[in-house]
Amino acid sequence: MDFSVIGSALERTKTDCIICPIVEGEPLAEAVASLNQITENQIQQLIDRGDLQGKAGEIQWLHNPTGIQAQRLLLLGLGKTTTPNDRDLKKAITAATQALQNSGCRSALLPVTTETDSLHRVSRLMVETIESTSYSYHLPHSKKKKAERPELKKISFATGNRKQSNLIKQAITEGKAIADGVSLARTLGDLPANICTPDYLARETRKIGRNQKNIAIKVLNEKEMEKLGMGALLSVSHGSEQPAKLIIAEYKGAAKSQAPTVLVGKGVTFDSGGISLKPGARMDEMRFDMCGAASVIGTLQAVRDLQLPINLVAIVPATENLPSGKATKPGDVVTSLSGQTIEILNTDAEGRLILCDALTYAERFKPEEIIDIATLTGACVVALGKHAAGLLSNDDQLANSLLEAGEQSSDRCWRLPLWDEYQPQLDSNFADMGNIGGPEAGTITAACFLSRFAEKQRWAHLDIAGAAWNQGKEKGATGRPVSLLVQHLINKC
Ligand code: BES
Ligand code: MN
Ligand code: ZN
Repeated sequence: MDFSVIGSALERTKTDCIICPIVEGEPLAEAVASLNQITENQIQQLIDRGDLQGKAGEIQWLHNPTGIQAQRLLLLGLGKTTTPNDRDLKKAITAATQALQNSGCRSALLPVTTETDSLHRVSRLMVETIESTSYSYHLPHSKKKKAERPELKKISFATGNRKQSNLIKQAITEGKAIADGVSLARTLGDLPANICTPDYLARETRKIGRNQKNIAIKVLNEKEMEKLGMGALLSVSHGSEQPAKLIIAEYKGAAKSQAPTVLVGKGVTFDSGGISLKPGARMDEMRFDMCGAASVIGTLQAVRDLQLPINLVAIVPATENLPSGKATKPGDVVTSLSGQTIEILNTDAEGRLILCDALTYAERFKPEEIIDIATLTGACVVALGKHAAGLLSNDDQLANSLLEAGEQSSDRCWRLPLWDEYQPQLDSNFADMGNIGGPEAGTITAACFLSRFAEKQRWAHLDIAGAAWNQGKEKGATGRPVSLLVQHLINKC
């Protein structure tokens, strides 16, 4: 989508459609009121007749309005307040985008009716919402079907105010970079596991670094990982024919002396459970078990596109988790890169096994902070559903920054405790720890396990098991939490 900002004089602008935001129970906003006047009250009449109340997401078309260049007006309900909350705004913009896509419109114009204070947030969310509504999944190299009707290609924001215009331009730049990162994360998530293998993730990450002077990418193979002593990570890939990869991307946007943020993303490209095999129903959804990795790769791309003045390291441990004669068995004991030993009591608790070695590996970058992102526990879906990612951290300041970034980006997380009282659930008679903590507080004990590999670090863990993909009719990756992560990094600048 092409986004731009133009001056006012709406009635004389050439566009296929002008979107008229309507707030429930309020008089028409200035720009809309002037259109109403030119159209000899056509807009107000629609409202007075009860065809549109202004509820969030409500739409009405008005064709061939008098006195106006545009062939259509799209009246769009924003809900009850002039500064709509994120939920209402997303609902309204999604409805408008869908209506425009199902019409003959190639272009649309949106007069700015938001107060300047919230303009950056609102316009960025609009850009992100329009882009995500336009996302479509297709296999790589497949031919795009020819469109049946004109495609919506151009959205212009209209304002006569310089300050507003600059705010919107900045919001468009950020919004596009974030939206592209989200789309990349969704595409990687949606791709089936026979295509999106550990090697595929490595190749996609390399693409981001191509021709970039300030990005260096390295991919470790199994032999190199074995030499390092990554016994926990490698125990997961034993059962698979696809070799595991450890993908490391370094983005340098600031002075060398500035300690980097390290992002670590769980990249299990298919999680069958291994010998502790999962039940068959909905097992296909375990293709999404690399959505943490996808979010890290999407974030890396957005940071590159915005050329943020920070140092960032993205680490993706990537593997399948499959059963076979060579697979790890319940009761096997492995030695992690940190030297701590682990009794693998359930091969389906594999995410923490690959993450713990990646967390230890992250230490070599002397990071300012480490954030890992993982579809780690079904328990997190029970606790928080899909609306918030679980957040666990050994550092209050980092945790609060992430909570705040989640609010700002409308990609929220919610903190759960990481108290020492939970740690004994990981006790083992045969190793330093077991890899499961029993039926209680599964999200917390998983984080407790990870915390043992980040003890000297400012570290946070995002459990995105509920947030990363939608189930049912809407089945597909969400691209979360790319927005949250990019926001957090923007806030550091
Ligand atoms: N990838 C799953 C977590 C998961 C399950 C995410 C369902 C989304 C939906 C993870 O590897 C896993 O299997 N976790 C186990 C841990 C248990 C064995 C301690 C789980 O949550 O059941
Ligand atoms: Mn599992
Ligand atoms: Zn998993």
